[in-house]
Amino acid sequence: MIGKLNHVAIAVNDLDAAVALYRDTLGAKVSEAVDQPDHGVVTVFVELPNTKIELLYPLGDDSPIKGFLAKNKSGGIHHLCYEVEDIYAARDKLLEAGMRILGSGEPRIGAHGKRILFLHPKDLLGTLVELEEV
Ligand code: CO
Repeated sequence: MIGKLNHVAIAVNDLDAAVALYRDTLGAKVSEAVDQPDHGVVTVFVELPNTKIELLYPLGDDSPIKGFLAKNKSGGIHHLCYEVEDIYAARDKLLEAGMRILGSGEPRIGAHGKRILFLHPKDLLGTLVELEEV
């Protein structure tokens, strides 16, 4: 059911430093920072030949990554995103398997303008997983 690894998201406490690290030190192609008010984050995408790294920085007082960053002062891997062809079919199959979908359970539009869902980390080996329809 799951396809390619679309991205690995890393939450950061200093976006400028994270961009400089990936662009200047690691020599990767890095996008502009984009505010995602619907998701409470600022995103920067690092383009790698086989996948992307999504740098996440909190936006607003109730950003969903604030608690994570309070616990992880140097930042850390926040979630993995796998591609699926049909997000509704994937969701229904996972719900049948007893997995929990975060939020309303309905797909939302993610940072790439595509449908996404997040699955409960306790159901996935302690890893927050995003599914994105491609
Ligand atoms: Co993501």
